Amino acid sequence: MCGIVGYVGRTSGRADAGHTALDVVLEGLRRLEYRGYDSAGVAVVADGEISSRKKSGKLSNLLAELDARPLPEAMTGIGHTRWATHGGPTDQNAHPHLSDGGKLALIHNGIIENFAELKLELVAKGVEFASETDTEVAAALLGDIFRNKLGGDVSDGGLTRAMELACQRLEGAFTLLAVHADQPDVVVAARRNSPLVVGLGEGENFLGSDVSGFIDHTRRAVELGQDQIVTITADSVAITDFFGAPAEGKEYHVNWDPESAEKGGFPSFMEKEIHDQPDAVGQTLLGRSDIHGKLTLDELRIDPALLKSVDKIIVLACGTSAYAGQVAKYAIEHWCRIPTEVELSHEFRYRDPIVDANTLIVSISQSGETMDTLMAVRYAKEQGAKTVSICNTNGSTIPRESDAVLYTHAGPEIAVASTKAFLAQITAAYLLGLYLAQLRGNKFQGEIKDILADLAKIPAKIQRILDNEGQIKELGQSMADAKSVLFLGRHVGFPVAMEGALKLKELAYIHAEGFAAGELKHGPIALIEEGQPVFVVVPSPRGRDSLHSKVVSNIQEVRARGAKTIVIAEEGDEAVKAYAEHVFYIPETPTLLAPLLATVPLQIFALALATAKGYDVDQPRNLAKSVTVE
Ligand code: F6R
Repeated sequence: MCGIVGYVGRTSGRADAGHTALDVVLEGLRRLEYRGYDSAGVAVVADGEISSRKKSGKLSNLLAELDARPLPEAMTGIGHTRWATHGGPTDQNAHPHLSDGGKLALIHNGIIENFAELKLELVAKGVEFASETDTEVAAALLGDIFRNKLGGDVSDGGLTRAMELACQRLEGAFTLLAVHADQPDVVVAARRNSPLVVGLGEGENFLGSDVSGFIDHTRRAVELGQDQIVTITADSVAITDFFGAPAEGKEYHVNWDPESAEKGGFPSFMEKEIHDQPDAVGQTLLGRSDIHGKLTLDELRIDPALLKSVDKIIVLACGTSAYAGQVAKYAIEHWCRIPTEVELSHEFRYRDPIVDANTLIVSISQSGETMDTLMAVRYAKEQGAKTVSICNTNGSTIPRESDAVLYTHAGPEIAVASTKAFLAQITAAYLLGLYLAQLRGNKFQGEIKDILADLAKIPAKIQRILDNEGQIKELGQSMADAKSVLFLGRHVGFPVAMEGALKLKELAYIHAEGFAAGELKHGPIALIEEGQPVFVVVPSPRGRDSLHSKVVSNIQEVRARGAKTIVIAEEGDEAVKAYAEHVFYIPETPTLLAPLLATVPLQIFALALATAKGYDVDQPRNLAKSVTVE
């Protein structure tokens, strides 16, 4: 969580670079605010001093503070937007934290696990603390090392050397960025288990939690490894490990453009991202097969012999990504006949799971930084499993630490609640399932080609749903007073129902639950009373073994007890009309692919209802986009 930005430009000021450090840092924070918005703060180095401002609440509060109390023009600066862990979201706990008599400023993303022990040590030395944060302890430690251990000597590394010594003492997960008044042209950063990328400019360099921190200025980025320190000046980038040994980063080109990280004329990022979905699915499918219809997943660099020997798949993910995993389970087991489990990452390693060299771990993560998933992947690797990451963020930690990656190409997802990444994850998981089926001979090439052809039609079908979104929007707006909404589904409709409920919980803050429709009579039906809204995701009536009639019976069961039913059904399914207050039709598609369509009305419903309640749909309360703490 927490977004961080750092910048150093040439000291000649705004006239040379066209912007100051503060311009760059605030723009970066605006783009990174999705990572946390409990408080925001900045520090710049100017005239041999550190000047900083920080404010609880959203970035707009900091901007108001900066209007009231402007900072001096500077070409070196750092900025932070916070998702609170240690200490509440107050001005005092906001970053930056200062030390060395106000000459050093530090910002932090992550958790310093041994902060209590370090704090005792520093208190014994006479250090006083003003906040409840672990970050202030890191700032004090760094200041103490710089001043007392290194004697404030900047000739031999100075802040960089102090950062090395500090990192050797810190435990936990952290990205740290520091500036010091005695080294005005330098930002020093360190990372362990927390994200940090470098942006390379001309006469200026950047640091960010991800590339959106500097996307307005450069597309040249450098990935850092674990336990590395980077020192940037306007003209140099030097990387070492925590012991000062030179290290290398990996340079890559960022293929996002700043416009794709903007709202594109929609009132919210979430609405834009829902409308990006035809493209997100289309891009994720692009270039995955040859002219004969044979799947070619170039990124999946795992020895085919190993993939053939896989006897179990475990999908690891959290939240929405875990629901994508549940959809994937139905498809992978059906197409590949490989037993597939889906496990919440944070539960996985605590239950002594059975994992060995024949287990394929498929992690699913939009951000690629979710700590629960990262730790689960590491655990599985230690047990000898092969790991594949389905991820939307190039260069992030989980794909880097996995044996192979299948990138989703949904583009930047800024709204905290996931929408387009979910559909792209399901698409990528289908591709993985089909690839395994092809490799292991579970499906004829012609069958795979047919499924790929069905997938290729999905973007246009999503577009049709979006073109007719008015009716579901109106329903969402009209239900702003609802206290509780239930969602039912069966087979692949079950994870869709849970995703529909999650969207409503996180956006509209109302009670919502997703159930397997067959489970209803085993307990949840007791919840139904007069007027209770119930969404039902109805499977296609076509094909063999259709569950359609069973779900229609489930609708009747809840209606008989007073429920108001809202049905998502396939075009042409006239039978459901008799049992529904509202029906929303989605285009015909094979059952296994239906989640790519059935999810969309549920997203629009949650968005409309939350908007009608006047809530900020891009930044729901208590949440952050990237959950980098366990
Ligand atoms: C819900 C949502 C979260 C994420 C979860 C995992 O809308 O976005 O439930 O899906 O925190 O995040 P990633 O996919 O980044 O690992």
